[in-house]
Amino acid sequence: MNKRILDELYNKQGDYISGQKLSQILGVSRTTIWKNIRELTEQGYEIKAEGGKGYLLSDGCDVLNSYEIHKRISKNIEIHYVNSVNSTNNMAKNMAPHTQKDFSLIVAGSQSGGRGRMGKKFESDNEKGVWCSFILKPEIQPEKALSVTIASSIAVCRTLEDVCDIKAGIKWPNDIIISNKKVCGILSEMSCETGVINHIVIGIGINVLQQKKDFPTDIHDKATSILMETGREFNRAKIIASLCYNMLEVFEHLKTGSINEFLKFWKDYTLTDGRRIKVFKNEKNIEMKALGIDDQGKLIVVDDKGNKSKFTSGEISIRGVLGYI
Ligand code: BTN
Repeated sequence: MNKRILDELYNKQGDYISGQKLSQILGVSRTTIWKNIRELTEQGYEIKAEGGKGYLLSDGCDVLNSYEIHKRISKNIEIHYVNSVNSTNNMAKNMAPHTQKDFSLIVAGSQSGGRGRMGKKFESDNEKGVWCSFILKPEIQPEKALSVTIASSIAVCRTLEDVCDIKAGIKWPNDIIISNKKVCGILSEMSCETGVINHIVIGIGINVLQQKKDFPTDIHDKATSILMETGREFNRAKIIASLCYNMLEVFEHLKTGSINEFLKFWKDYTLTDGRRIKVFKNEKNIEMKALGIDDQGKLIVVDDKGNKSKFTSGEISIRGVLGYI
């Protein structure tokens, strides 16, 4: 019922629709309409009710639910929305062996145990971000997994450009940065067997509506949100829909074996290529120069003696980007 009322309110957006009209279209009493409208407002929809005119759905309310996501995606994609979960990556990993689809998405309103890379906690116990995980089942070798991570970072940057008109950058392999602060993190987890990938889970956390006070004080100088950068409250469902399309493009490239084509866009977003970086490797910090990535997404570096090497994200982590070479 709620879904059908929402359909009618959206069709009329910008204008009132009377309770009587709604009850005629949906074949229920005006009291039922009124009760459902009340439920929708409890879910966060801003619906003006005016005697003699009826109901009006306000533009720009940020409600995240299954309806709002599906409404914006015309393709037949398996999407699961939950109000709250410990971690969408955990949920995705549990679901992955049972889903027949090779591309699906899990979205949560909030996460009680959001996970970051290297066993860190990821702050997401609130309804202010996009917390989601894609389950991908591409027929590729495990060595290609890093390229999927990099391509996902590019997909996030494209989404921020498409929806929010923000130019973000990527700190290899997958920290999305605006004004020197992290706006999004990506956690990729893979399951493979004897040289074949069963599935890859790409967990994406984008800070959308947080203000500085919403972040723990120890990350005040490291974290930012789209609201803090633009002063605007973007709709999370709109961001998710765009992300879904951009990730679908990544997946098409994976399926057709042309992921290298997509990795060319790395150049548009890299914050590390051509810069001196501090790398944490074997329990030590070392300074090197980042030259670029190879066709698998490995970071190509050169040390101060001129020796070149390549690293995967499991071998090193970048602790600082120090400046142009
Ligand atoms: C990082 O920056 O270290 C990676 C953060 C990844 C966070 C996302 S939020 C959705 C998904 N579920 C999780 O528990 N983690 C990822």
